Amino acid sequence: MKPVIAPSILAADFANIQRDVEMLNASEADLIHVDIMDGIFVPNISFGIPVTEAIHRHAEKPLDVHLMIEKPENYVEAFKNAGAEYISVHIEACEHLHRNLQQIRALGCKAGVAINPHTSVGLLEDVVSEADFFVLMSVNPGFGGQKFIENTYRKVEKLKNMIVQSHSDAKIEIDGGVTSSNARQLLDAGADMLVAGSFVFKSENPIETIADLKSI
Ligand code: DX5
Ligand code: ZN
Repeated sequence: MKPVIAPSILAADFANIQRDVEMLNASEADLIHVDIMDGIFVPNISFGIPVTEAIHRHAEKPLDVHLMIEKPENYVEAFKNAGAEYISVHIEACEHLHRNLQQIRALGCKAGVAINPHTSVGLLEDVVSEADFFVLMSVNPGFGGQKFIENTYRKVEKLKNMIVQSHSDAKIEIDGGVTSSNARQLLDAGADMLVAGSFVFKSENPIETIADLKSI
């Protein structure tokens, strides 16, 4: 199975966002990963609902919105209305994760749980069937361009086992520091979806870089 490739728009040129979205439209990217940061859950602020809407206006691929925000339940509907088809919330930000996942599914979106590098995948055991995908953070969320954390491989294997054991169809998305050097090992460990920001946008030919990741 070929991986789902989700380039992260966080690494795009925000002064030329339409051009960069059109580049993704013309590429083999499957999704457009949209990183939302509130300056509270993570130590950085990216952009919010109007920019997501603007991306959606030009996008021909589904938006995969990664909410790195406190109280995501207050905003999921607004992001769905802004064009999100995939919405992930952080386990560390949700007091009522089970309810939040139901809320996302009730809106007709794919529901994802994102987890930080220090959070054990064991904590996902009781929501394995409630989520459509899991976002394993392979860097500490907040910034693009960070170094991949090697412990991620072990987490992918463990989570994949949990998913298989519970006969769930949930997919595993890896987010942070993904390159053509670690993609193969991530897929072998059980990953299904790869987010790549800097590796795509800082490359000389992003369309080719996306194609390389797709056929790795
Ligand atoms: C990190 C974000 C990532 C980021 C990935 O907080 O969630 O999606 O954009 O960027 P790279 O691929 O540069 O690590
Ligand atoms: Zn992300």
